Amino acid sequence: MGYNASMSKQSTVVEKSPHPITVAQILSDLKKLGLAAGDTVLVHSSLSSLGWVAGGEQAVVEALLQAVLPSGTLVMPTHSSHLTEPRLWQNPPVPESFWEIIRAETPAYNPYLTPTCGMGAIVNCFLRVPGVFRSSHPTHSFAAFGDKAAQIISSHSLEDGMGENSPLARLVELNAKILLLGVGFESCTMLHLAEVRANYSDKGSMLQGSPMMVDKQRLWVEYRELNYNSDDFVNLGDDFLAAGHAKTGSVGLSKSHLLYADQLLRFAIPWLEKHRNQGDMGSDLMWNPVQPDQLPQLLKGFSDWCLAGGCSVDWLIGKTTRTHADTDIAIMRSDLRSCLACFSQDQVLLCAKKGLLVPWQGTQIPEDIHSIWIRDQQNYILQILIFDCHDDTISYRRDKRIRWPLASLWIEHRGMRLLNPGITMLFKLHGRELLPKDCHDVGLLVEYFSSLKL
Ligand SMILES: CC(C)(COP(=O)(O)OP(=O)(O)OC[C@H]1O[C@@H](n2cnc3c(N)ncnc32)[C@H](O)[C@@H]1OP(=O)(O)O)[C@@H](O)C(=O)NCCC(=O)NCCS
Repeated sequence: MGYNASMSKQSTVVEKSPHPITVAQILSDLKKLGLAAGDTVLVHSSLSSLGWVAGGEQAVVEALLQAVLPSGTLVMPTHSSHLTEPRLWQNPPVPESFWEIIRAETPAYNPYLTPTCGMGAIVNCFLRVPGVFRSSHPTHSFAAFGDKAAQIISSHSLEDGMGENSPLARLVELNAKILLLGVGFESCTMLHLAEVRANYSDKGSMLQGSPMMVDKQRLWVEYRELNYNSDDFVNLGDDFLAAGHAKTGSVGLSKSHLLYADQLLRFAIPWLEKHRNQGDMGSDLMWNPVQPDQLPQLLKGFSDWCLAGGCSVDWLIGKTTRTHADTDIAIMRSDLRSCLACFSQDQVLLCAKKGLLVPWQGTQIPEDIHSIWIRDQQNYILQILIFDCHDDTISYRRDKRIRWPLASLWIEHRGMRLLNPGITMLFKLHGRELLPKDCHDVGLLVEYFSSLKL
């Protein structure tokens, strides 16, 4: 066998090991750390951290299974970050000329075939255990084996890859433990669920894309996901450890931690809310919205639109009061065709359901589409909100009891049509989540209404 960098890395592992680490030792160390039969445990791992293991990754997987079976469940992240939007790749980036080919040709995610990316040798061995389940998410899948495996893995929604409809949330419900086997909190995926649950400023989302099988057809599917950011996870983990919430010990030569998922979340959510609301997080880079005064040029030939969202609030006030992640306009559904004629078909993405973006096929836009995103070559530039009107009356689609006359949909202000500020207020206060930016805009609207001295 030739000598290569990998062998040199392994010889470093051998050198630091006074003796081979065995299944029996790993099992005994895991028990000392607190892992017990019947536990449901999510494991993040590094093989080399354990010292030189007789039997390598297979020995570690066997020890982990022996520790929790027969009634327990072993879970590992099997993420495949190579099935993402190539425009976002950094490590390494690929030339722009590759992007379309990657999107068109990369085989669809297949839980049986798709390799993991950066998850480690132990995970790859675990995936080969007969009877392991792997979830359906193209980039954030998890694999599980044991009593609760199906319950944890069976439902994994695309747009909520690390949120409430993911195996992470099921693990919390099952009072699962997390084992960081020779790795730190930078690898602790559960903290992404904490991000989903925490309320902090600049909690932007971004557009992601993956090759998937949809109705037996391979498609490049675009969807929205939270701008996950693990930059502060190590600091968070340090504070969690300092608070004494985890058990730390050796497994082989590794420094490992065992903790409860639920306890981590209870610590992490307020931690993120405190530290991320100090104004030091990056903003959503995926949007580069067109500025309101550029809209007449962009929508040349179509005039039945009004400015909506946060930009309309700033226009009303007469100054820019915050950075806007997007620019919205509102139009009537009956004007949709004329509006979309301003763009080429491939610029148009339909917001199909919670965060799922579907490229427009040029056909009739379904009635359940209420929002459309427009993109240019590099960025998302405009959001179009669609209003439905019957008998000159518009109903608020989230609660049909609220209605207003068509003639009240917009107002004219400083040379621009603006969505009626009362309607903007309604949308802002009645969204799925009241974000800090919405609170900001509502405050401005209240101030504006009081200035009218009605
Ligand atoms: C990236 C990561 C997997 C790298 O860890 P690692 O120990 O260097 O790599 P692996 O676990 O894949 O183990 C393979 C290494 O073990 C070493 N090795 C080989 N045989 C071995 C043996 N018998 N005993 C011990 N180590 C051995 C080798 O150095 C090998 O590296 P090489 O193939 O480059 O030579 C790890 O740092 C990590 O981040 N793990 C967590 C991943 C995760 O859960 N992420 C979720 C994020 S959301």
